[in-house]
Amino acid sequence: MEVKLGANNIILDCDPGHDDALAILLALSSPKEINCLGITTSAGNVPLELTTKNALRVLALIKNNNIEVYKGCPKPLIGELVTAENVHGESGLDTGSGTSLPEPISNYEDKHAVNFILDTLKESPINEITLVATGPLTNLAAAFSIDPKTFRRAKRIVLMGGAGFEPGNITPAAEFNIYVDPFAAKSIFESELEIFMFGLDVTHKMIITSRRLSAIKNSSSLVGPAVADLLTFFNVYDTKKYGWDGAPLHDPCTIAWLISPDIFKVKKMSVEIETNNGPAYGRTIADWFNVTSKKKNINVAVNGNSDRFFELITERLNFFDE
Ligand code: RIB
Ligand code: CA
Repeated sequence: MEVKLGANNIILDCDPGHDDALAILLALSSPKEINCLGITTSAGNVPLELTTKNALRVLALIKNNNIEVYKGCPKPLIGELVTAENVHGESGLDTGSGTSLPEPISNYEDKHAVNFILDTLKESPINEITLVATGPLTNLAAAFSIDPKTFRRAKRIVLMGGAGFEPGNITPAAEFNIYVDPFAAKSIFESELEIFMFGLDVTHKMIITSRRLSAIKNSSSLVGPAVADLLTFFNVYDTKKYGWDGAPLHDPCTIAWLISPDIFKVKKMSVEIETNNGPAYGRTIADWFNVTSKKKNINVAVNGNSDRFFELITERLNFFDE
């Protein structure tokens, strides 16, 4: 895929994962707003072999065999991999009906994800590529560490991760993507690239209520029933945990912002990553009221219109009927 000057040229780094799958679908259903140069996979919700196979399964669902998938790092920069089968199921994309997504119709590329990220940045005009990350930041941090000059050719980073006011979801303090690889997150948050952070403060407002789930299931989209089947499973864990009428749909917030920024409210502030062992390990420490006067390095999404968010997703799923 070639860079289109002035478009939202993205590389989507993800760990499918149900909400990553929706981020992939939303990106690929919006060619007028999003030019997806490739998908790179990280280990996170489930081990790398499965996140990679799941990215390929999502492409098979929409019969897409031209988006390239690049396999990334199998574990965090430091420490052991923490996964979330309790949320996403053993496959990482378990469904309510038990029927799996289709088998892949394409394979992942030989090139490593980190090399794809760096090669694409090197071969493309500067400030044209947005790196979207909806899993742990291992691949991005590895690319930055290997070749910081090339990495800084990226236009910006738009990521799902962290929490400013909200508690954590994997520990009382930490959000999963940051917690899995906090040293990667620290490196990226200090990279001085323009960063947009969609954390639990905004994603916990994007609840897959039964009404929204029915709207997807009963939509005219050919993939609506399969997507609703995925989200039916995805709702189980968080509805029990939080007592809400559905789970928060985290990852597509990144793509929805690229498509319609006015759905969200963003506030720039200092955000640091806690990498010391202890109860706050993996916390994103957001200086919401600028009490430290530290450099405001992160654009934090602080609110969003959930009705418009779900209307966008539901409407865009019809793209795959063509
Ligand atoms: O904390 C939620 C995040 O962790 C989402 O990206 C989900 O897919 C998991 O990766
Ligand atoms: Ca994810």
